[in-house]
Amino acid sequence: MDRILIRGGNRLSGRLPISGAKNAALTLMPCALLTDEPLTLRNLPRLADVDGFGHLLNQLGASTAIEGTRPEDFGRVMTIRTGKLTSTEAPYDIVRKMRASILVLGPVLARAGEARVSLPGGCAIGNRPIDLHLKALEAIGAELEMAAGYVRATAPGGRLSGGRYRFPVVSVGATENVVMAAVLARGGSVIENAAREPEIVDLCNCLVAMGARIAGIGTDTLEIEGVDRLHGATYAVMPDRIEAGSYACAAAITGGDLELVGANVADMQATTDALREAGVTVEPTRDGVRVAADGPLGPVNIATAPYPGFATDMQAQFMAMLCMAGGTSVLTETIFENRYMHVPELARMGADIQVHGRTAVVKGVDRLVGAPVMATDLRASMSLILAGLAADGETAVARVYHLDRGYERLEEKLSAVGADIERASDG
Ligand code: EPZ
Repeated sequence: MDRILIRGGNRLSGRLPISGAKNAALTLMPCALLTDEPLTLRNLPRLADVDGFGHLLNQLGASTAIEGTRPEDFGRVMTIRTGKLTSTEAPYDIVRKMRASILVLGPVLARAGEARVSLPGGCAIGNRPIDLHLKALEAIGAELEMAAGYVRATAPGGRLSGGRYRFPVVSVGATENVVMAAVLARGGSVIENAAREPEIVDLCNCLVAMGARIAGIGTDTLEIEGVDRLHGATYAVMPDRIEAGSYACAAAITGGDLELVGANVADMQATTDALREAGVTVEPTRDGVRVAADGPLGPVNIATAPYPGFATDMQAQFMAMLCMAGGTSVLTETIFENRYMHVPELARMGADIQVHGRTAVVKGVDRLVGAPVMATDLRASMSLILAGLAADGETAVARVYHLDRGYERLEEKLSAVGADIERASDG
């Protein structure tokens, strides 16, 4: 297994390219299942989860062709063709490794009138149920049965009717699944308390480019008029707001000055507000956003929330940065029940963090000390990288396969702006 070695203390400065958004790519790719025409996605990030999703689409009968991009280019162009589905099943061995596989349920059901998908099971950060996905699909006409760890969904008469559903709590994935199912329904659908994340906007814009009829995009009420078929399209994946936020924290924690090229600062308001509150300079530029820390960082209190609130996917990275801020910061994780696994690893590097249930109290320290640490989940592993960039001495982050799921060519991007970082293979 690979490890990443970092010798901390370097100020980062320069231009760092931001890739296409993982969490947009993983909901745009299954859109190709909704039509027999080709869907071409541009600016697709080179990530393990994107490759994994491509294999799942292949299993369902779709072809996935990566078009000419030079190896040194960031992002890829992928054309996905689903002439016809050769399977309507997402098997356990795929779904258990990548939860986002559940996002084929809605489109396969809409295209084929039936789908059989393994229940994803929990993961490191929480139980991750899919009850809201299922309730929303039932509300627009799906009939569901659970057996042997799978959910089998069917559309009576081969086509969903459409309907109305109000989410009791905001769910990104469940919103994505029901929207992808509703666009081919016989009638109209109204989805209330829908997630408003930029990735949902990207999904809706791509579906509209394919001929879907969706009103209220970007709001918490989506009105969808079902159509008989969708056509192909070419669509560019939005920039990754979480990757951009993560590297903004890298600039802050190293006292650096980075331009995040390609970032869309409009998607990351809660993050930039919190950075400014910590005393970090954040300035939109023609090509993206500049983040610079030329003075000491101050404490910030954060509570994660659905968009436009502070993203739960930024909590671990922001905590790493606050370990080096003066004073005391209080973070509250309201979305997932177990998203503090980075805390004991940061503590091994000298961080002073006390966790009480959903709340973490971070007392700033003058220095962190490099140490061998263990990644446990995607964003936790990024928080350890950030701490390593600021720590005295060497930090060795193990189990970096977590990182490869969500950060394209991380060492390359960080080395290019001055980090002393390399990947070591343990054979
Ligand atoms: C998406 O996960 C993202 N993943 C997550 O990013 C992100 O943390 C999360 O949204 C919240 O923003 C992808 O887009 C691939 P939810 P998702 O449904 O859709 C509960 C990363 O690091 N819930 O919005 O699974 C759930 O347990 C990943 O990139 C139900 O109870 O998140 C959680 O507490 C991690 N029943 C809350 O809702 C359901 O049916 C929000 O989950 C569904 C969810």
